[in-house]
Amino acid sequence: MIRVAVAGAAGRLGQTVCEAVEGADDMVLAGRADPVLETAVSDVLAGADVLVDFTRPDTALANAVTALQAGVHAVIGTTGFDIEALRDSARGARANAFVAPNFAIGAVLMMRFAAEASRHMQRAEIVEYHHSAKLDAPSGTAARTAALMDGDVPIHSVRLPGIVADQDVILGDVAQTLTIRHTTTDRESFMPGVLLAVRRVGDLGESPVVGLERLLWP
Ligand SMILES: NC(=O)c1ccc[n+]([C@@H]2O[C@H](COP(=O)([O-])OP(=O)(O)OC[C@H]3O[C@@H](n4cnc5c(N)ncnc54)[C@H](O)[C@@H]3O)[C@@H](O)[C@H]2O)c1
Repeated sequence: MIRVAVAGAAGRLGQTVCEAVEGADDMVLAGRADPVLETAVSDVLAGADVLVDFTRPDTALANAVTALQAGVHAVIGTTGFDIEALRDSARGARANAFVAPNFAIGAVLMMRFAAEASRHMQRAEIVEYHHSAKLDAPSGTAARTAALMDGDVPIHSVRLPGIVADQDVILGDVAQTLTIRHTTTDRESFMPGVLLAVRRVGDLGESPVVGLERLLWP
């Protein structure tokens, strides 16, 4: 059994992760850390093999470093934090870190198709749509998509109630456009990817590994 602690356990994603871990045959929920629950990350690490972090851009790095120093692997879904700083902290640590700006398989495929399309069409722009409580803009998914694409790709961020997480990648060329659209209707879309990362984080050949695609295909 993999013992999983969740940081941000009272949040939108954290609650969904706790339910997914409790529903997995090979995992046990080892602790819920969240200021709302008056439980710190350091309180839940002793009984954990893996910490899953869905918190805030300003707390994710410190949580991951705390876990790595305790020998607990970190699976990080929080977006908008400094991944380069994590690279420094992960070097030489006893435990591994895995980061994915998006754990939904459809979003990973969207990024792959967008990267391929950008090599063949003149220009592209990204429009990303999220719920109005999202703290970071542009989204981690949009920033990652742009980084994988050829050329300079502007990003437009929409924040409105009623949306979970959607993205359009619009490519333009002579007399034609191509739109690649990913739509998320429920946070459950992220759970298969999160559980896969929990199962695999202990066996990574390097750390940190960034992107769910690194676990899905060579
Ligand atoms: N990678 C993905 O696939 C993916 C998908 C959706 C959202 N996200 C990201 O996940 C993060 C969380 O999103 P959300 O909608 O659940 O936010 P949320 O505001 O609903 O939840 C965040 C929770 O973290 C808690 N928290 C704050 N500081 C903490 C700390 N130091 N230790 C532990 N918990 C702490 C808060 O009290 C809150 O309950 C965001 O960065 C969001 O962009 C990632």
